[in-house]
Amino acid sequence: MTNTPFPDGFLWGGATAANQIEGAYDADGKGLSVQDVMPRGISGPRSETPTPDNLKLVGIDHYHRYAEDIALFAEMGFGVYRFSIAWSRIFPKGDETEPNEAGLAFYERILDELDKHGIEPLVTISHYETPLHLAEQYGGWTNRELIGFYERYARTLFERFGSRVKYWLTFNEINSLLHAPFMSGGIPIPEGGVPEQQLYQAMHHELVASARATRIAREVAPEAKVGCMVLSMPIYPLTPSPDDAVAVMEADHGNLVYGDVHTRGAYPGYFLRTLREKGIELDITDQDRDDLTNTVDFVSFSYYMSIAETADPAKKVAGEGNIMGGVSNPTLEASEWGWQIDPVGLRLVLNQFWDRWQKPLFIVENGLGARDQLVEVDGEKTVVDDYRIAYLNDHLVQVGEALEDGVEVLGYTSWGCIDIVSASTAQLSKRYGFIYVDRNDDGTGSLDRYRKKSFGWYADVIRSNGASL
Ligand code: BG6
Repeated sequence: MTNTPFPDGFLWGGATAANQIEGAYDADGKGLSVQDVMPRGISGPRSETPTPDNLKLVGIDHYHRYAEDIALFAEMGFGVYRFSIAWSRIFPKGDETEPNEAGLAFYERILDELDKHGIEPLVTISHYETPLHLAEQYGGWTNRELIGFYERYARTLFERFGSRVKYWLTFNEINSLLHAPFMSGGIPIPEGGVPEQQLYQAMHHELVASARATRIAREVAPEAKVGCMVLSMPIYPLTPSPDDAVAVMEADHGNLVYGDVHTRGAYPGYFLRTLREKGIELDITDQDRDDLTNTVDFVSFSYYMSIAETADPAKKVAGEGNIMGGVSNPTLEASEWGWQIDPVGLRLVLNQFWDRWQKPLFIVENGLGARDQLVEVDGEKTVVDDYRIAYLNDHLVQVGEALEDGVEVLGYTSWGCIDIVSASTAQLSKRYGFIYVDRNDDGTGSLDRYRKKSFGWYADVIRSNGASL
């Protein structure tokens, strides 16, 4: 292929998560997950039990329509599809000793369908869907016992699917744990918030569990490649002052520590300093230290936006819409949900991660959440989503730049390749897909699927291996 920086074999595709698409929240023995009691997403109050206003209970009914959806992905030419396995389909409460066969069978059907179309699976083991029982009875990841439950779950998946799935991710956006403890770590949030000591202990438990999963994969699925997954966000100094540069470094450290541990196998000095200064003493066993040395094969990440940082409290104007804090950047435009759009930031992140970790990178989420209007063009229902095409095109051009810089990138899976329920706001009107799903925020809609204009655009990008960008 001429005129493209994308290497042969670059994996093009899309990404979803079980809790945002499957629906069928209690079908075939599935237990409840934290998502089933989060009708308003991250910031809204949780419910005691699943309530009908929670769009995730039905999602986009992918549980029953997966074959149709995967056929549409194949039509775009996907070489890879990232999806997550719902932990509570496999271990409904999370602490059982035997898995739920019906849950495993569902993912077997998904893999069969992907096989049929020659699409490589990329599986997230835990994507914001901790079994609710583990949250309520154990305090989620604050409890060391979760390492063992996760280990059993991961082993079950590797034993069952390890020969069919090459690429695995241990925890979605593991660095969101301190910022969204209930969604990310199944940690119930008392009034006044979760004490930092417990949050950092939970982070340690997840890091150990992630490393143990990698160790198990090496034993039972030696062909498998295991990656970590972090939420990436380049941080710019609000001014050229050295103090702002230090504020950036410290904020960066808060995110980079996860990749550092996953790639180097131990806690970095700056993190130990943070703990010391906060007066936090973690319970870390010798076994934990040994486990952490099982480092990943690749690093994957999501990328939506960048933020700025300042040391000056008077200039701290919080950026909107993201869970990681940070300051609004006056040079950038934002999406309707306040996420600041910055294609160049993707090149920066790719270079930063590559320079720092020297591990192959996988962009497993990127996209624009926007309101779409279904219209009729030439007798076909569609969405003329030129704004989405522009966003994705600009970002992919920057991936090309990073490839020219010498960064090793395995692939790109755009987020929500079919419209799904949003994680932060639990809306369906925040759409990312190439495929429109007829379902509205009030739960009405036929659930029919329609190809948007971006569907054909992405098919061209894939067909030309990026030459059409
Ligand atoms: C990532 C998550 O943070 O961002 C996804 O891994 C999520 O689950 C995506 O859907 C986009 O966020 P939102 O809130 O627009 O759905």
